[in-house]
Amino acid sequence: MSIAGEIKTLFQNKYHREALLIRSPGRINLIGEHTDYNEGYVLPAAIDKYIYLGFAKNNSRKCRVYSLDFGEEESFLLEDMKPRKGWINFVMGVAAQLKQAGHNLEGFDCVFGGDIPIGAGLSSSAALENGVGLGLSELFELHIEKLDLVRYSQQAEHTFAGVNCGIMDMFASMMGRKDQVIRLDCRSLEHSYFPLELGDFQLLLCNTKVAHTLAESAYNKRREECQAGVNKVKEQFPEVKSLRDVTPQMLEKAKGEMSPVVYKRCAYVILENERLITTCDALADGDLEAVGQLLYGSHEGLSEAYEVSCPELDFLVDYTRDLPYVLGARMMGGGFGGCTLNLLEKSSTKGFIASITAAYLEKFGLQMETYEVKVADGTGVFFV
Ligand code: GLA
Repeated sequence: MSIAGEIKTLFQNKYHREALLIRSPGRINLIGEHTDYNEGYVLPAAIDKYIYLGFAKNNSRKCRVYSLDFGEEESFLLEDMKPRKGWINFVMGVAAQLKQAGHNLEGFDCVFGGDIPIGAGLSSSAALENGVGLGLSELFELHIEKLDLVRYSQQAEHTFAGVNCGIMDMFASMMGRKDQVIRLDCRSLEHSYFPLELGDFQLLLCNTKVAHTLAESAYNKRREECQAGVNKVKEQFPEVKSLRDVTPQMLEKAKGEMSPVVYKRCAYVILENERLITTCDALADGDLEAVGQLLYGSHEGLSEAYEVSCPELDFLVDYTRDLPYVLGARMMGGGFGGCTLNLLEKSSTKGFIASITAAYLEKFGLQMETYEVKVADGTGVFFV
């Protein structure tokens, strides 16, 4: 049975009602990493890995939520929504945001589950938050705009999950379109869709199966380092509001005022924004070789200047360098684990998976997973 079918049946059996179904995807990011919270550009897309959620009203003030993957039910009262431990935060966090914004919520039951690998950097939490937001909006006929739902998901992550993330993940999951990447300006939220025409090539994710514990603290530290750089540049260029406004020349002028580490971080972000613009041009020209080189450039910056990679990610990227059928590869997402993104020839994918999996097992003693992903539509109501 499909996961959606399973959710529907399980909902019937558990809560004895017909469920409204929502489907919400994970995301990839082609290029533009750690640029979102610097008000720069990102180039993400929703993918064909999903969380499915079933919802129904239960005529009370209590909310019961069952996670198929964890095999457990949690509940909370609408009058008592406070952060706890575990996955319920992603559900309660969004409900709390909706309530705080003045929307009229009542008690509901929810069952959810899916096939987005957890902890792989594919934004399963953003998918869940978006699914909850849209589900509640539909169930209670709140007519909330998708962009507002994206903001509620981000706020839920900040306040209930404690991660000070940018807006990319939830935006991509909610606003994704089949076969298109989204060029998103994270300052204005203006966005345009670019067809991703890969011809004989495809995207493959290699999951390191590691998620180093540094990830969260290092993420917040990078945000602080970027802000420290902005503050120094601002002393000479008061018009600057974020790294988005800083040109390479401005950074050079302020270089003496900041630590070498802060300088490196800022230089990376400025370059990564430029790489993204160049990638869009290369995509428009159908020049996939150039896109591949830009992916490698992004990885080098993330590994050496921004220092958010790890030996497992570096190994997987380095492994591809001399393979003629791989155009480019890089670590994807926040870093310190998760997946690499590979752009490679379709016809060579099978052999590549076999050889890289064996090499990774030999080097780290870890069985990696691979996913051949397709670019898909964003969060929406789903029918089985
Ligand atoms: C994580 C965050 C995003 C973004 C990326 C890095 O996925 O949730 O907001 O900052 O890292 O690009």
